[in-house]
Amino acid sequence: MVHSFAFVLLFLLPSSAFASRHDHRQNHNHEHVSARQLPGSWFHRDDHPVRALFRRADATDGVAYPAVGSQEWKSAYPSQWGPPAKIPDTWAAALKAAIERKAIPDIPVAQVDKNAPDGGGTPAYPKEFDPNGPIVCSATYKCRIPGDIWDAPDGQLALSFDDGPTQASDELLDFLIANKQTATHFMIGSNLLDNPKQFLKTFSTNGDIAVHTWSHQYTTTLSNEQVVAELGWTMQLIHDSTGGRVPRYWRPPYGDSDCRTRAIAKEVFGLTTVIWNQDTADWSLASTPPGTTLAKINASMTEWLKTKSPGLVILEHETSSLSVQAFKAAYPVMKETQWKVVSLSQMFGNGTGYWNAADNLSPVKPVVNLVDATKANAGPVSSSSRPAASTPTGQVFNNNKNASPSSKPSPSPSAKSSATLQTVSPRTILLSLFFVSLFA
Ligand SMILES: *[C@@H]1O[C@H](CO)[C@@H](O)[C@H](O)[C@H]1NC(C)=O
Ligand SMILES: *[C@@H]1O[C@H](CO)[C@@H](O)[C@H](O)[C@H]1NC(C)=O
Ligand SMILES: [Zn+2]
Repeated sequence: MVHSFAFVLLFLLPSSAFASRHDHRQNHNHEHVSARQLPGSWFHRDDHPVRALFRRADATDGVAYPAVGSQEWKSAYPSQWGPPAKIPDTWAAALKAAIERKAIPDIPVAQVDKNAPDGGGTPAYPKEFDPNGPIVCSATYKCRIPGDIWDAPDGQLALSFDDGPTQASDELLDFLIANKQTATHFMIGSNLLDNPKQFLKTFSTNGDIAVHTWSHQYTTTLSNEQVVAELGWTMQLIHDSTGGRVPRYWRPPYGDSDCRTRAIAKEVFGLTTVIWNQDTADWSLASTPPGTTLAKINASMTEWLKTKSPGLVILEHETSSLSVQAFKAAYPVMKETQWKVVSLSQMFGNGTGYWNAADNLSPVKPVVNLVDATKANAGPVSSSSRPAASTPTGQVFNNNKNASPSSKPSPSPSAKSSATLQTVSPRTILLSLFFVSLFA
């Protein structure tokens, strides 16, 4: 069965893998020069007889999205590094419905005081609203909302990297690939537009592609509609760039969320909020002057890795070679000290980082509108290679005195925009991986 399927795939490869996505409009004037170019994406005409055959094991939703990195792809999304101004009507309607069923707490939008001693990094509420109370419960103040992820099960360490993809992602990804290690990548939509190559490489590691908003704002300082826009556009970009996958996890920039913004994420898009219980401050390694050093991170990591209860959700970044080095130095110690090092989806979601696909290699259930994604539940990953399931440890509103204050990384729009067209589609990468696994 596997062999005949492989044979069918091999048979299909020449006619499809090298076809441009506009082939169906070009009336088949067999241009063999263009056949050597990398495919923009890899789709048969809708009426092609093998399309139905192939669908069974299709790792995409079958829709022909613009090639990741192309101008057509980039121009379909809001401009970078500003809160997106508009949201589609369907998202607005989902927000309105959630407000009407009283699922979104009606609390004030927090304000950042630019004259504050900390440089305005702590969103504040009117006096009568206690940020540590159950009405607001702001993660910036270390108030934990039940259902949000802060801790890990004993002995388990969730690997996650924020603010990618960037030019520094390559070094991290090479290391993860060499160690057959997956992680959760909380991506900024604006960075994804600049670094499509690193994005596709991340996807090929089969790690979780997760949401870190469009332009890296303090989400509690944004209106309901702006929160929807920050999350929704990032999800839309990820969806359209991964063959239709809809992420399940988001991490608020600076760890800043409250009862209102986490409810918007959950009720409109089904997103689970992920914070952390240890913070390396690795984002500040490359600051001037540096906010921390590799030696300091080494000392913190050494300390954290000594205690297996609770497990660790460590905040790390893929923003500079230094931040990647901090992780690379600690990783062998994580393994030597017998931690079970996993991605968040492996820890909490049975390996399923998406609503409508088990992982980056599995079939995708098409989701026409993001706000309907929760209905497409694709179920757990069946592969026995995935670690066993566990559930988030129940947290009642309590402050975690052990956790350090939320870090304040600067989003640093990547200086160098990759002008070159990246025309390798996720499908091409996945297909390559599939063939490697068949014949390796
Ligand atoms: C800390 O540095 C020492 C000396 O280089 C190294 O042996 C050790 O593995 C490092 N530990 C961590 C957690 O990075
Ligand atoms: C993981 O799988 C178990 C057993 O099938 C199920 O009870 C649990 O709800 C699943 N968890 C998630 C997050 O899907
Ligand atoms: Zn961040």
